[in-house]
Amino acid sequence: MSEQDVDDVAFLTGDSNTGLHKRSIYEQNGVAVCSQKRALCIATVVFAILFAVSLIIAFAGPQNDCPCAGEKPANLEAEDEGDDGGPFATNGEVFPWNNVRLPTFAHPTRYNITIHPNLTTLEVKGQVTIEFYVDKETNFIVFHSKNLTINEKMIQDRKGHRLKISQLLEYPKHQQLYLELEESKFRKRGNYTVHLRFTSKLGNELEGFYLSSYVTADGDKRHLATTHFEPTYARSAFPCFDEPQFKAKFKMSIFRDRFHIALCNMPVVNTEDAGFYMGTGLNNSFSQLRDDFQESVEMSTYLVAFVVCDYKRVTEMTSRNVSVSVYAPEAMLPQAQFAVKTAAKIMDYFEAYFGIHYPLPKQDLIAIPDFAAGAMENWGLITYRETSILYDPEETSTAAHQWVAIVVAHELAHQWFGNLVTMKWWNDLWLNEGVASFLEHKGVDHVAPEWGMMNQFILDKTQSALHLDALASSHPISVPVKDPSEIEAIFDTISYNKGAAILYMLEEFLLEEVMKKGLNDYLNTHKYGNADTNDLWAVFTKHANHSFDVKSIMDTWTQQMGFPLITISREGNTILATQKRLLLSPRENDTDLLTPKSPFDYKWYVPLSYYTNLQPRVTTNVWMNLTDVSFEVPPAVEWIKVNVNQTGFYRVNYSEDMWTSIITTLHNNHTVFTPADRASLIDDAFTLCRAGILNATIPLKLSLYLLNERDFVPWSTAIEHLESWSKMMSETAGFKKYIAFMKTLLGPVTAYVGLNDTGSYSTRLLRSNVLEAALIANIEGVVKPAKLLFKNWMEKGTRIPPNLRDLVYAAGIKYGGEKDWNYCWNMYKKTQIPSEKVILLKSLGQSMDPWILQRFLLASLDREEIRPQDVEPVIAVVAHNPEGQFLAWRHLKAYWPRFQTMFGNGTFTLSGFITVVTSTFCTEYDLQEVSEYFEKVEVGSGQRALEQSLETIRLNIHWVKENAETINQWLHNYLKIDKS
Ligand code: BES
Ligand code: ZN
Repeated sequence: MSEQDVDDVAFLTGDSNTGLHKRSIYEQNGVAVCSQKRALCIATVVFAILFAVSLIIAFAGPQNDCPCAGEKPANLEAEDEGDDGGPFATNGEVFPWNNVRLPTFAHPTRYNITIHPNLTTLEVKGQVTIEFYVDKETNFIVFHSKNLTINEKMIQDRKGHRLKISQLLEYPKHQQLYLELEESKFRKRGNYTVHLRFTSKLGNELEGFYLSSYVTADGDKRHLATTHFEPTYARSAFPCFDEPQFKAKFKMSIFRDRFHIALCNMPVVNTEDAGFYMGTGLNNSFSQLRDDFQESVEMSTYLVAFVVCDYKRVTEMTSRNVSVSVYAPEAMLPQAQFAVKTAAKIMDYFEAYFGIHYPLPKQDLIAIPDFAAGAMENWGLITYRETSILYDPEETSTAAHQWVAIVVAHELAHQWFGNLVTMKWWNDLWLNEGVASFLEHKGVDHVAPEWGMMNQFILDKTQSALHLDALASSHPISVPVKDPSEIEAIFDTISYNKGAAILYMLEEFLLEEVMKKGLNDYLNTHKYGNADTNDLWAVFTKHANHSFDVKSIMDTWTQQMGFPLITISREGNTILATQKRLLLSPRENDTDLLTPKSPFDYKWYVPLSYYTNLQPRVTTNVWMNLTDVSFEVPPAVEWIKVNVNQTGFYRVNYSEDMWTSIITTLHNNHTVFTPADRASLIDDAFTLCRAGILNATIPLKLSLYLLNERDFVPWSTAIEHLESWSKMMSETAGFKKYIAFMKTLLGPVTAYVGLNDTGSYSTRLLRSNVLEAALIANIEGVVKPAKLLFKNWMEKGTRIPPNLRDLVYAAGIKYGGEKDWNYCWNMYKKTQIPSEKVILLKSLGQSMDPWILQRFLLASLDREEIRPQDVEPVIAVVAHNPEGQFLAWRHLKAYWPRFQTMFGNGTFTLSGFITVVTSTFCTEYDLQEVSEYFEKVEVGSGQRALEQSLETIRLNIHWVKENAETINQWLHNYLKIDKS
């Protein structure tokens, strides 16, 4: 049976239920229909065909485009097959296409889009012409549209003949339009054009085509209109086939005022006075211009972008003379220098790395004041949150500086990985985000080798992914998704960080050259097209000369969630390594480890790496092929360190005596291990204690070596764990002792870093990290000078070095009063330096006065006071503050419906709010409160985050029960010895 038959069923099933009236093809807002007699005829034919076809379906099996019957492939199930005969279009008629995915027989090839936004009335007028072909005979097409009013429609064939449209139906739930021809059919392999005129409004959510604004240093408010389309919002700016595999060429025209500029993926080729075109009377039409842009290459809809604003730019050339510009408000332009220089260099680097020229004539990067994500890789017009692109050498901290470089590199990596070659469907989102997250560190490492970015990889990617992926409520990297909120929900730590981490592991055994050749091959093979995960594995296998079956190995990491705990034991000269899934949650029995069912029963192909005390700089590799493994070591081996530099995506446990010799070595001479290995030992020991596998005394003893540690990577790992223990210990008898212990550990390193903002990049990072922890532990030698720096800044305007600002503002607010808070608030409102704004905003949540904190929370509900993307940081910082934790929880409950309307269905998912407020709770009472509350309300795309938070709270409770007393005892003894 052909695909066409099945499609016809889809459309005819619906039609048979409708009364039809005739309409012209170019009507206003109308739904075209036909006569009753005709309808009866059709209905009869329909039933006959339906019967025949259902028989055929029963025997011929599944087909791709069938939205209504038979067995469907993944992502293509039919929905809404309710008793009411739905789904229903807006006009009450049955909407004949019953699938959230579009049919695959119609392919757009070219879009001509004209957009006329009015930044005052917010009205947008638009016109789109979509050229498409159909690869089978049909009389309907389905495409996307969201919140658009279609005013005119017309279909033409290749020769320009109009075809009559019988109906245009809209189904808002799937954001689809269904357009059906009246008499004729689209011919097999025929080319057609659909013309649509539409109107819409510039939105105030940060998606689709939306309005943003900024205030100049003189207090003038300026507006701009900008887009954010990924993953499913292009459809709310213009009607389109809004799925990543429908690549087409885009030709844009944009109307704008004379004092504005318009930007788009491609450069402007022509500008005309446009007084009379699409004249609305809303603007002064004589001051209107129309910019026509060059036609793009083949690309996906989610990568289209356009902006109308009054920005200025700075420009650099790449070595091949591609112009790279950063656009920003004029006053901020000096802060764009770093990004434009870095971007030009990284473009050169990626061109060389991928072996493929950047295919567009220009690259623009633009700072957008209201912006939901960190940045968005629109091809040739990359949009950034201000803090992801602006950098001031005098004002911005080292960490924020690195962040700019990372985000610039990440989005540039997407220009090849994601834009040139795109995932077929969103279930492979990790191919975009995991790969870009892996490559971003390489890009930055190339332009700033002195930053040691590759040493930070495990901190930024591996550790956070291991942390989340040890929850039962995690998910595999490859995950079926269908509707927009499911798609939205996988832009998470698993797609980004686990994706990057498993590529890091892969590169370790494939070697860099093979990886590079493979990526090059993949891009060349699939350029201007789409690919899936298997395509990627295939090129690696090929370039590794089939010495590895990369797909078999990597499927165990992408198709099942979680990762293995490798347990190392020794019998004489034999080392035994066993593998078992690591789950943090307490479990009844081992069968919990096997749920939900995995195609590999939670076994992995593990590239095990190790060294021993005999040759600490010589790594040996052993494969665990879904199995355990044993190997021999010389008798003189005293200890073995497995998972060299934490490059593998797994954790390691040792028998107790083996831990003891590792810990002794750390105490005697920790530099025997690399900084990454020290970090991995800390990370594994603390995590295994959290999982109830190691006694708390092991991480406690181990952490004593920190008295001698001076490196950023292990300290950063340790501080994460020490602070998390501090939260969980906060309601236990040992809390004060625990804080005293933290003070002891942090003492020497605090003295070492001092309060002068000097030294290498990693020293500066270490300093700000350690000093912030010192503030939490209330170390007098840090708090006192920090308070003084704050006072001098406030009273005399004494400059604070950028890397001390987090500490100083936080100390000033924490130990200050209303006057200090108001001062910082005013600075927050006034500053033109985005990095400064973030630090100030975070410090405002450090107050110990509940009234101030409450006022701060309430301010975050007012968009004029705090931008939408900064609401979550406000709630997070208050929730993190011991004085504010319960206020934040109360606030979240009190305004939940509001958060839902503001952030419920878009790029801002509710996940973040739930996680930051609830996941540090550690009592039964709080657990019950949280679970009862969320039973009553809608959580939308925050569902998985809620499950993860509940699991984390349970885990916290269990950990406290099991460990608090042991820790209390151990600290009691330790502090006694320490004091004596
Ligand atoms: N493609 C994403 C932007 C995005 C995020 C779109 C979520 C839709 C939903 C972009 O490439 C990205 O990953 N941005 C990151 C920054 C990056 C450096 C990790 C972000 O927004 O945080
Ligand atoms: Zn990305």
